[in-house]
Amino acid sequence: MSVIFKVRGTRDLLPPETELWSEVEATARAVFARYAFGEIRTPIFEDTALFARGVGEETDIVSKEMYTWEDRGRADSERVLSLTLRPENTAGVVRAYIEHKMNDSGALQKLFYIGPQFRRERPQRGRYRQFWQIGAEVLGPAFSGSESPLRDAEVLEMLATLLDTLGIRGWRLELNSVGSATDRPRYLEALRAALTPVKEKLSPDNQRRAETNPLRVLDSKDPKDQAIIETLPKIADYLDDASREHFEQVLLGLDACGIPYHLNPRLVRGLDYYTRTAFEFTVPDGSGLGTQNALLGGGRYDGLSEMLGGPKAPGIGFAIGEDRLVLTLQAQALESAPTPVRKLDAFIAPIGVAQNPAALELARELRGAGLSVEVGDGSFRLRRSFETADRLANRMVLVGEDEVASGMLTVKHFSAAEQTKVSREDLAAVLARR
Ligand code: HAM
Repeated sequence: MSVIFKVRGTRDLLPPETELWSEVEATARAVFARYAFGEIRTPIFEDTALFARGVGEETDIVSKEMYTWEDRGRADSERVLSLTLRPENTAGVVRAYIEHKMNDSGALQKLFYIGPQFRRERPQRGRYRQFWQIGAEVLGPAFSGSESPLRDAEVLEMLATLLDTLGIRGWRLELNSVGSATDRPRYLEALRAALTPVKEKLSPDNQRRAETNPLRVLDSKDPKDQAIIETLPKIADYLDDASREHFEQVLLGLDACGIPYHLNPRLVRGLDYYTRTAFEFTVPDGSGLGTQNALLGGGRYDGLSEMLGGPKAPGIGFAIGEDRLVLTLQAQALESAPTPVRKLDAFIAPIGVAQNPAALELARELRGAGLSVEVGDGSFRLRRSFETADRLANRMVLVGEDEVASGMLTVKHFSAAEQTKVSREDLAAVLARR
């Protein structure tokens, strides 16, 4: 029989690596709770129109990277729907916000999510077709304070805290204002005018973008285009007073908290819904991500709710690439002292098959007392039990006929190289000692 392999661009996450994933998620949950965020879980597939309208038809994500299919109705009377595996989660969260009339409470909503996203990108290190995001969104009616620059600063400060708590070293916050819905058309006009005479000199991809989505020309990675990009107008020069003031307030908030940042006038991001504050956190080369050095990205989306047919509900959010976060933690851990493997508290070794039930019962009792325990099998040769136990656990408990009868168990402590007899009553306490 031929073997079936996983699909290109997907990954299996196995123990012990999944332990790191769980720790990262637990840390994120704990930090989010301190900032009053609650969890939201939205479906993994949505109506295709949600992303076309929310993220934007002309973006790379929507035009080339979505997993979309025609979902036939089960009955003739059911409509055929175009569905898409979510390439990101902001559009889904805002859809849910509108659908559940979360605006009506008048309260500011602070929501976080952890889950897989799907994009048909060219797979490479740090870039997958199914990847995980840890994200958060803050939105609400304007009178709830959702438009306040304090929210932007708070979200960025929370991210700095989360990365520091996780132990990510050398992160860098890149920040820009991409202007409001009124600044943008004036800037796009100037950008188009500046691009027209130089268009022929751009790489073919950017010639196309110059027509369809000129903002995207700015964050081209193509080295040939850099000299031209340097000469293009900067959005900072096209911000109106309100946008400029908003951005200055964000920076003041960051200064007050001592969060370092780098202004990057070329940062535009690849999704159309952004307004005003846009940001990315990157890590230095050699942090395990190859060329994919953006650990996370986000920004404000003051008009997204209206684009999706909802009420005015300005918002700001971000999504961390969890795969990239874990790769970075692993690479940075290799640079420092290796972390010791965490062992189980005990390995229970029945001496013969006849003691298997007693061993299982003892394991149940110890696990009930909160200990981590593995149980062997009486058909193992004792030597093999020893080797397995030494690899997995701090101590080994031998369960033979005598032990069962007398209630006195033989406990071998590997690192101390000692063997003692322990009564059943004292066993849990002894095994709990390091
Ligand atoms: P994004 O920049 O498209 O923004 O993605 C956010 C992060 O997800 C990236 O910085 C990266 O770490 C990770 N990521 C993206 N694509 C891949 C991939 N193919 N493989 C591995 N990791 C990937 C958004 O998705 C927005 N929804 C963020 C946001 C939330 N803006 C406002 N609220």
